[in-house]
Amino acid sequence: MSIFRKKSIEDLLKNAGSGGKGLKRELGAWDLTMLGIGAIIGTGIFVLTGTGAVNAGPALSLSFVIAGLACLFAALSYAEFAASVPVSGSTYTYAYATLGEFAAWIIGWDLILEYLLAVSAVSAGWSGYFQSFLSGFGINFPEKLTAAPGSVEGVTTYMNLPAFLIVMAITFLISIGTKQTTRINNIMVVIKVLVVLLFIVSSIYYVKPENWQPFMPFGIDGVFSTAALMFFAFIGFDAVASAAEETRNPGKNLPRGILGSLVICVVLYMLVSLIMTGVVPYAQFSKALDHPISLVLQSAGQNWVAGIIDLGAFLGMTTVILVMLYGQTRIMFAMSRDGLMPKSLSKLHKKYKTPYAASWIFGMIAAVLGAFIPLGELAELVNIGTLTAFTMISVAVIVLRKTRPVMKRAFYCPAVPLVPGLAIVFCVFLMIQLGSHTWIRFFIWMAIGVVIYFAYSRKHSNLNQQENDH
Ligand code: ALA
Repeated sequence: MSIFRKKSIEDLLKNAGSGGKGLKRELGAWDLTMLGIGAIIGTGIFVLTGTGAVNAGPALSLSFVIAGLACLFAALSYAEFAASVPVSGSTYTYAYATLGEFAAWIIGWDLILEYLLAVSAVSAGWSGYFQSFLSGFGINFPEKLTAAPGSVEGVTTYMNLPAFLIVMAITFLISIGTKQTTRINNIMVVIKVLVVLLFIVSSIYYVKPENWQPFMPFGIDGVFSTAALMFFAFIGFDAVASAAEETRNPGKNLPRGILGSLVICVVLYMLVSLIMTGVVPYAQFSKALDHPISLVLQSAGQNWVAGIIDLGAFLGMTTVILVMLYGQTRIMFAMSRDGLMPKSLSKLHKKYKTPYAASWIFGMIAAVLGAFIPLGELAELVNIGTLTAFTMISVAVIVLRKTRPVMKRAFYCPAVPLVPGLAIVFCVFLMIQLGSHTWIRFFIWMAIGVVIYFAYSRKHSNLNQQENDH
């Protein structure tokens, strides 16, 4: 029973149809850019910037540049990895064909951490704006049900009820098979970008440059540790890379889509963070960590704009939850179909043709985590999981160029090994910035993964059955 056993690429291609995704190449650079922005803009910019401003001061904008660069290098490596075998979706499957079962398991287990907890984290961010929006109409949730225990200083809270409810609602949609359509995605992207632009034009006049002094109140350390948190704001660009097989001329359009969505987001994020810290002295964001953007507008006296932004923000974050939960069920589906997870998780519902049990089990876990764990802690865990996956994938790109030099790839990462090398350096650097509690929880998560692999998955793997049959 080798932990290095691999799936054959031929088998992957044969099974590709059952993923339900055709391989029509119809996406261009523009579609990819929209797809990327749709998955990227969310809780990071609308919520975590509050914590970022408190910890980095006006230099929050620099933190965004550092996190953005890490993503750029990682995205180019990710794209080569994801694009190398024209099978729908995840890098997990490709790792299975090239690096072997154990590495695939580790990447899959890591991606579960990314997607599952990202759903919880974004639901907590969603909740802040939803509540801020409702309070504009005089509707308030009972205070004890507005946030996870321990997330608001000096206030006793039991759970984040709105966060719980939104994840349950989206779980319901996914379980009955509502896929996000390109059209809805495009509308939501336009709304999100308009909301961000509205924020910029309506608050730029209220910037007082003296608020930018001192620019780096917590030194470069504050900038670096904040970059590790703000990395969250860019997560989602991997959605662009995973659409490689549906892209026309991927060698050209993929880097354009990745670069386009990342550069647009870096510019928007820098502008937003400079304006935020220019209008409101950075220390004041500690009072409104769950809706910092609307705080800026409220303190500029633009209450009606604040209301519109609340609405746009929580609508925009809804799609991020949908995309992430959908991604989560797809990875789980693939791992279960391969026998590494119980088969019941890939059983399709008779009527809806969706992995019904998997959707509800993981939807419920995400809802409970979002209701009871503070956003910052969830986001850091998502980041460490994602950074690990990106590091492994960048290593794999370098290794596979050596071990499989002639294999055709739909997209070639430029300047190998320099670009994947930079991705590794940036990702590891950001991981080091994360707190020890995050590392401990991450190790526990990975240790659980290793135990499950050796206790269950290795034996139940389809490849194991095949080996025994021979
Ligand atoms: N980048 C996504 C967000 O900020 C996950 O919500």
